[in-house]
Amino acid sequence: MPEDSGNKLTMVTCSAPVNIAVIKYWGKRDEELILPINSSLSVTLHQDQLKTTTTVACSRSFQEDRIWLNGKEEDITQPRLQSCLREIRRLARKRRSDGEADVDTAGLSNKVHICSVNNFPTAAGLASSAAGYACLVYTLSRVMGVEGELSVVSRQGSGSACRSMYGGFVQWIMGQQGDGKDSLAQQVEPETHWPELRVLVLVVSSERKPVGSTSGMQTSVETSSLLKHRADSVVPARMKEMIEAVHKRDFTTFAELTMKDSNQFHATCLDTYPPIFYLNDVSRHVINLVHRYNRHYRETKVAYTFDAGPNAVIYTLQQNVEEFVQVVKHLFPPETNGGQFLKGLPVAPTTLSEELKQAIGMEPMVKGISYIISTKAGPGPRMVEDPSEHLLGSDGLPKESA
Ligand code: DP6
Repeated sequence: MPEDSGNKLTMVTCSAPVNIAVIKYWGKRDEELILPINSSLSVTLHQDQLKTTTTVACSRSFQEDRIWLNGKEEDITQPRLQSCLREIRRLARKRRSDGEADVDTAGLSNKVHICSVNNFPTAAGLASSAAGYACLVYTLSRVMGVEGELSVVSRQGSGSACRSMYGGFVQWIMGQQGDGKDSLAQQVEPETHWPELRVLVLVVSSERKPVGSTSGMQTSVETSSLLKHRADSVVPARMKEMIEAVHKRDFTTFAELTMKDSNQFHATCLDTYPPIFYLNDVSRHVINLVHRYNRHYRETKVAYTFDAGPNAVIYTLQQNVEEFVQVVKHLFPPETNGGQFLKGLPVAPTTLSEELKQAIGMEPMVKGISYIISTKAGPGPRMVEDPSEHLLGSDGLPKESA
């Protein structure tokens, strides 16, 4: 990019995906650098359904770094934001001193304005920090002409954000070094590897705001001996098995490991003192439903996983989606006056056999699930080429719509 002259505005917009772990990250060995006590593995979800979009502008006329998130100005001095800004600027400076030609010196010496929005409601309680920090770091790197391994930077915004830097199936290798340089994300397989794999996000209606993952995992590290056992003795072998299952597209193994790992993560939450409860009655209803459904078919056709909240994320294969969605509708009757119940990829309605209904044999729970987002694995962060999609105007301030 050319050297800034006058008050020229440099602006870049990018988008980044959400990811859902199937082997969970829970616990840090270094709070500041965000280094985990175990490796983890996730599926990057498609940005058509869930994404963060971020515009970064820089200009000599800006007085200070500023950030707007979902329409509201936030405190830029927050340590994790500062870590990401500092690291990208450091890498840009290094590239410049190494004589790399395309480093934007304007972006380096000038202040930035950052504006970021999600295409899904924050109230849905979906982990937005992963997509948010991945998008921030990716966009800043494009503005400042930084290339190379950026997951070590987004990791310092939010641990799970390092996995949103790639599409498909992604592992976060915990690393061994004290400086965190080897604690990074790596793509295991691209999003095209397993096209039949589908994802259903069951957004659970809940008024209570759960304990945040940052403080929750800190208490777990301090008090749970089960968490230590999990990190030292369970996850290393599980990571190997999971990577193998992904390579082989072995759904049964993938699904069983996913459910067991979610259950063990929530068991470590219960083993935390005082205990943390992320699952609620609706979550437990979904767990029972999945096991009864699988037992009926004597085959593991569907898997659940839960993060630091009550929402269920379901992994299944294309051929089971229609029936399973119908089962969810049967057990969680959509509110008649509510909005659209099924969002995202279309799912045709179907009829359920009496035999299946009986085999499940559970009482319907009204108002348990607000809506379903139907999606699949998708690609990593990308640059948005169309300038009309910039979230900041030519004055460097958020547009009305942002
Ligand atoms: C349960 O990445 O949100 O979703 O590193 O403190 O920002 P910080 O935590 P965060 O934790 C995510 C925890 C999880 C499991 C996972 O995504 O692996």
